[in-house]
Amino acid sequence: MPATIKPFAYLSDDYQKALKLRDRVLRQPLGLYFTEAELKKDENDIHFGLFNGDIILACLILTETENGRMKMRQVAVDSQYQGKGLGKELSLAAEAYALQKGFTVMFCHARKSAAPFYQKLGYHIVGNEFTEVNIPHYVMEKKLALLT
Ligand SMILES: CC(C)(COP(=O)(O)OP(=O)(O)OC[C@H]1O[C@@H](n2cnc3c(N)ncnc32)[C@H](O)[C@@H]1OP(=O)(O)O)[C@@H](O)C(=O)NCCC(=O)NCCS
Repeated sequence: MPATIKPFAYLSDDYQKALKLRDRVLRQPLGLYFTEAELKKDENDIHFGLFNGDIILACLILTETENGRMKMRQVAVDSQYQGKGLGKELSLAAEAYALQKGFTVMFCHARKSAAPFYQKLGYHIVGNEFTEVNIPHYVMEKKLALLT
């Protein structure tokens, strides 16, 4: 499948597509919805999508934090396309972007159910399990390094 990974701006058409995907994949299954405060966080962040033509198949958000640490959040792949390598492809592209911007660590709040996905990408669990959006999570992180 021809897929394009590209960044897009907050409140752009692509952002609205990503928001619908995030809602469908990350909120509706939990019986939740995005609050205004949650969406406000998107404003200064970096948004990436993986597209097939005009159709968004996967998305994620990067938040710059202190000490060379980039946070990856809201990783969502359309349910029909999960398990086909798209999440991995998009996450690796986000890591390459962060590294190129001078960040040395990528971290995330990983759902416990998705922890094996991050483990396969080289992330490890830091600290104890905690609850977010009513489900168990771990902080997981990965040191970013150039491939030699
Ligand atoms: C978790 C998610 C982002 C992974 O993306 P994906 O495109 O489905 O995963 P990929 O196909 O790129 O998988 C890469 C590897 O991780 C494994 N993997 C992916 N999701 C997994 C899961 N939930 N449990 C165990 N292994 C998983 C795949 O089997 C694959 O292994 P392989 O390299 O040995 O073949 C995606 O399934 C998704 O959106 N899930 C629902 C929402 C969610 O949980 N988001 C993460 C929030 S922290």
